[in-house]
Parts: sequence; C-alpha cells; structure tokens
Amino acid sequence: MGTFKHFYHKDYDERLNIISDFSGLNNQEVNEFSASKNQKNNNLIENYITDYSLPEGIAVNFIIDGMSKVVPMVTEEPSVIAAASNGARMFSKSNGLHTKVISHNLTGQIIIKTDSVNLLYGYVNTHYDELLKVANNAHSSIIEHGGGAKKIKVRKLDNNYCSLDLFVDVAEAMGANIMNSMLEALASFIRTSHNENVLMSILSNYSIDSLVKVTGSVSFAQLGKNDISGERVAKKIVEASYIAQIDPYRAATHNKGIMNGIDAFVMALGNDWRAVESGVHAYASRNGHYQGLSNFKIEDNALFGEMTIPLSLGFVGGATKVLPKVKINQKIAKVNSKKDLMQMAAAVGLSQNLAALKALVTEGIQKGHMNLQLKSLAMSAGADDADISYVVENLRQMVNPNLKDAQSIIKNLRK
Ligand code: MEV
Repeated sequence: MGTFKHFYHKDYDERLNIISDFSGLNNQEVNEFSASKNQKNNNLIENYITDYSLPEGIAVNFIIDGMSKVVPMVTEEPSVIAAASNGARMFSKSNGLHTKVISHNLTGQIIIKTDSVNLLYGYVNTHYDELLKVANNAHSSIIEHGGGAKKIKVRKLDNNYCSLDLFVDVAEAMGANIMNSMLEALASFIRTSHNENVLMSILSNYSIDSLVKVTGSVSFAQLGKNDISGERVAKKIVEASYIAQIDPYRAATHNKGIMNGIDAFVMALGNDWRAVESGVHAYASRNGHYQGLSNFKIEDNALFGEMTIPLSLGFVGGATKVLPKVKINQKIAKVNSKKDLMQMAAAVGLSQNLAALKALVTEGIQKGHMNLQLKSLAMSAGADDADISYVVENLRQMVNPNLKDAQSIIKNLRK
C-alpha cells in the first residue's frame, strides 16, 4: 500500500518507475509505454501511464437513407470491418438501409423509499410543471440548445421503493453531466419540499427513450453461395434470426455480432460504448427473457431485416472534444448530429449481423475469415511486416494451423 501512497500526485516518470519496480518491467517494456505517452491524456484520466492504441479501419459500401457513406471503426477483431462492408454491400444493392430515430431523450432516475406511492403520484401530478422547472434550472443552458427536461413519471418498484423517472432532451451532448445535475437538484427539492426519503439519483443506461429503427432488404440474388440458392440462404437466415428469439445462448452471440459493428463505430466516434452495451442488452431482455435484437423475414421475394435498439450517443462534449481523431472521424462518416450517429450505428449493426448470419448458415465463419485469421496468427507469433505474406501462405497449406506452427515457420525463415 505504502508504494502507492498519493500515487496520483506523482509526476509521470515517478509513476512509471513505481509500476516498473512493482511489476518487474524491463527497460524495453518501460520504453514501449513512455514512447506512447501523450501529455494531454495525462490530464484526461487518473494515474495515466501510456496511450493504448487500437487499429482503426473504414467499412465501405453503405447507403444509409439514400446517402452513400463510409464508417470509421475501431476494433482489434480481424474480421469485423470486412463483415460490415460485406453486409452493407448486400443491402446497398437493394436501395440500402433506412433508418428512423424514434426518440432521443436521456432517462434518469431518483430512487425514493416511500410507504405511500399514491401520495407521491399525487405530489408529482400537482407539482409537475414546477418539478420540470427545478430540473431545467439546474442546467438552463440546455434550453438554449433546444433541449430540456421533458417528462416525469413515477414507477413503483416494490412496496417500499419507487423510481421517479426524468426524461431529458440533452440536445447534441451525451448528457450524463446535464442529467445528473438535474436529478440531484430535483432530488434535493423533493427531499425538502415533500420530505421524501431519497436513496440516490443517477441517469439510467436503459435508454428506452432513445430508440432508433433500421430496416433493409436484400434480393435473393445477393445471397446465393456456392451451390446454395439465394432464396434458400434467405430462408436459413430467417431461421437463424428466429433461433436468436427463442434461445438466450444464441441470442447473446447473435447480439455480440451486432455489437461488433456498433461498438467499433461508437469507439471511433469517442462515445461511451459501455453505456451503449448495457442499454442494448437491457433492451434485449425487455420481454422478460434475453432475445436477439434483429429480425429477418421474407417479404416481397426478398430478405427483409429490421432492428430497433436504444442508443444514447453524443455528438459534442465529453471525449469527442478531447480525442483529436473523433472530429476527423465525424467528417469521414459525414455525421453532423446525434441523430446521424444513431442512424449510422444502427445501420452498421444490422449490416454486421447480416454478414455473420449469411456466413453462419452457408460456409461457416472460419473460411471467409481465414486470411485475416492467418495474418493475426502470423503476427501473434512475431512475424515482421515483410514476413507476414510468407508465413500466411505456409500456414494456409496446413490443416488447422496454430500458434506453434506459425512460430516454427518464422524460426525456419530466420535460420
Ligand atoms: C464473432 O465475433 C461474431 C459472430 O459470432 C456473430 C454471430 O454468431 O452471429 C460471428
């Protein structure tokens, strides 16, 4: 414990030295960390020691609401960008993806312990406008940006507790600070004016008032694979999406595929992907059991996909201001608002899902991703840039090559 006393007060070099001693890092490892240091980020988080970077790539072929788009994606998973581009291409051949932002309010809650929910209902009903005003006064600048507190609802949780839900239009911001300031002001007002026993107040990541819908069709001609007809593949995709509705084991993986795309985009755009993840998975359980987020059916002689998900994103503020690549990624993606972000994220998710399902019901995902996986294997085994193609070609000749095989190819190469 003593070693880390006032750790956050130490300067950068001292901190790195302490960690180096504590964890037995060698000089090369310490240099690897200090070489990627970024003074700005030293102020962004506590106890900063390095910038940890992830690859960014661009998924292509998207037509979203009639506009041609590309999608910046940050991911370490080799096949994600190829799959997103592939799914987008299939949708684009039939007019692309269509999106609709249903709502974009942030939800927050004040948890109140009360033995009389009815009194609380009554209090909120009679003081409704005043309560909204208290919330808005806590962050009045949001009104100038076209937002503000919009709705209050009381939800009974059990015989002792209820949640006072506040819905706020936080305009283009992610809005966590706006929401939490409003909630705390409202909580303190309710505590004093109505003598309520407030346990806590915080925004909710179950963003049910921030929903976006995406739909798209794919002609059978796009779906044929080897000797399986497009219509047959379409029907199998419909079955696969049904299985994700009835089996939580499959639903979790189905949704993971959707989130492969959404998270990678959300990260590139400097947003809080943990918030997005928790909201989406809570929504997937809204019917009392965990289900797939998307649905595919056959309609008008084509495969039709649809998905509605909660996405609480921000176009300004937070990390979007601090991480320099975010502004460039906004430009690459041609997004100019929170709504654009929601629409693109949903479109990427459905495209990612379509590509995964098509691969799964035809040749499996291993074959299509083999090249990228072999590359990743070669890199994990320590292949230099110049050697990667040679190592990959040798691995390709093998049945189920593994890390040891890659290492031995490299060893032989360097003999
Ligand atoms: C892998 O990261 C994602 C998939 O497993 C998604 C799915 O199974 O639908 C391929």
